[in-house]
Amino acid sequence: MSNKESNRQMTALIKDLHQHVGQTVTLQGWLYNRRDSGKIAFLVVRDGSGLCQCVVAKNETTESFFENARRLGQESSIRVTGLVRANEKQIGGHEIDVTALEIMGESVDYPITPKPHGIEFLMKNRHLHFRSRRQWHILRIRATLVDEIRGYFNRNGFTLIDTPIFAPAAGEGAQTLFTVDYFGEPVYLAQTGQLYVEAACMAFGKVYCFGPTFRAEKSKTRRHLTEFWMVEPEIAYADLDGVIEVAEDFICSIVQRILRDHRPDLEFLGRDIAALEKVQKPFNRITHKEAADILRGPKAKELLERDLTTKTARVAEVKGLIAEKEAKEKSQGIKQWEKDKLVAEIHDLRDELGDLEVEVQNIPHHMQLAASFDGGGDLGGSDETIISRLHERPCFVTHYPRECKAFYMKRNSDDPTRCNNVDLLAPDGYGEIIGGSQREDDLDVLLERINEEGLSPADYEWYLDLRRYGTVPHGGFGLGVERTLAWLCGLKHIRETIPFPRMMGRFYP
Ligand code: 4AD
Ligand code: MG
Repeated sequence: MSNKESNRQMTALIKDLHQHVGQTVTLQGWLYNRRDSGKIAFLVVRDGSGLCQCVVAKNETTESFFENARRLGQESSIRVTGLVRANEKQIGGHEIDVTALEIMGESVDYPITPKPHGIEFLMKNRHLHFRSRRQWHILRIRATLVDEIRGYFNRNGFTLIDTPIFAPAAGEGAQTLFTVDYFGEPVYLAQTGQLYVEAACMAFGKVYCFGPTFRAEKSKTRRHLTEFWMVEPEIAYADLDGVIEVAEDFICSIVQRILRDHRPDLEFLGRDIAALEKVQKPFNRITHKEAADILRGPKAKELLERDLTTKTARVAEVKGLIAEKEAKEKSQGIKQWEKDKLVAEIHDLRDELGDLEVEVQNIPHHMQLAASFDGGGDLGGSDETIISRLHERPCFVTHYPRECKAFYMKRNSDDPTRCNNVDLLAPDGYGEIIGGSQREDDLDVLLERINEEGLSPADYEWYLDLRRYGTVPHGGFGLGVERTLAWLCGLKHIRETIPFPRMMGRFYP
């Protein structure tokens, strides 16, 4: 160690403690958890890079900060100095014997205790909620996902083009536009950057945009946000097959990267890692017409009937478990820690029961929707779930009916009622994570579609210019970061995939 280094107090990150075994270091963090035995206090400290147990033994030199340590509230900010020991049994694999403790900011009555809380409460306290472990694991994976998205396109010759958020016209359906007052004139929050990257791909060949997009989705589903992040590559001279090839390669590189860098995080979240390892080329590929046949066929019916049986049985089982644990919790002479553990377990079981009851109630409806699926319509959320559960690998669904898709999608030359589009359904029931298409490059057909949709051609003059001046076949897709992350992490709900979720009825904090 150089003189300069040894003279100052050495601060270290918890994730780097393996480099400091046998040395005295200072951690700068927050008190995650604490317990003491009267003679020894155990402080679990988190510093954003990991968790570490710090041990304060009561003796003459440590008496004053031992007392401090005993009364310190959860999430107080502290600087802890001590000797690093390797200890395989402890969280993170290390332990610190504390020789000094400095309190930076006290935290009294931190609202999110280790006891269970309802999701509404946690979301209202989202600014504190993401200090908890589960959220920490999820949002770290998000950061890598975003890095891999950028990295993939940068490595593969795509130029980043930033597109505007104030948009003069609809890019997707007019029903989901947010209107903003722009100096007395209405403009919209961008639903997509696509129309602009189409312009850019005529200048740069292969481009992508990546930013927040907005949809006034009036549905409170586990898949919908009103503000979400989307990456949209666009490729000149690409047809639908060209678009699909890039999407497949892109998804594989994302999954490989997350498996490489985040195994411990995925394990903590309880993700079935073997299922992610199955994400390999080639993905499944079916047409919308084939999807319709699957939905109306025996496999879908069997799947849902099996669900109904297993879920109904689980409802009864969970109810039994709750009753059993409630009785134990009320029994006399039970220790406080046992009681706390039971309360947490009962809370989780009640959550599961609530979800199960909704699912059981919905199954007959989903069965009916699938059995009577209208081959001329879009796939609904429950339809996507069925198709994606029937495939181990991600599944491309192509050639949807033209009327149920956006105006810019290219008309299929063999069947003019269909378009050259693709949705990618993630496995395990996650549904659509990518939507894309070849674009209509014929000026007249595009105009016809704009009129059909009741949009005003005047709003799209600049976009129509792209077909007037050197039009070429081209296409691209959009991948939603949050839906992709929910799938990668195996989360039930999209609300945990973004630091501050915006959904119908939720925009605080
Ligand atoms: O299928 P979408 O609407 O496609 C587009 O916006 C095209 N302009 C993309 C393109 O071709 N350049 O949306 C693409 C993806 C979906 O597959 C989904 O992952 C995500 O964006 N997405 C949402 N994510 C969360 N909440 C919502 N309300 C979403 N709507 C779409
Ligand atoms: Mg879509």
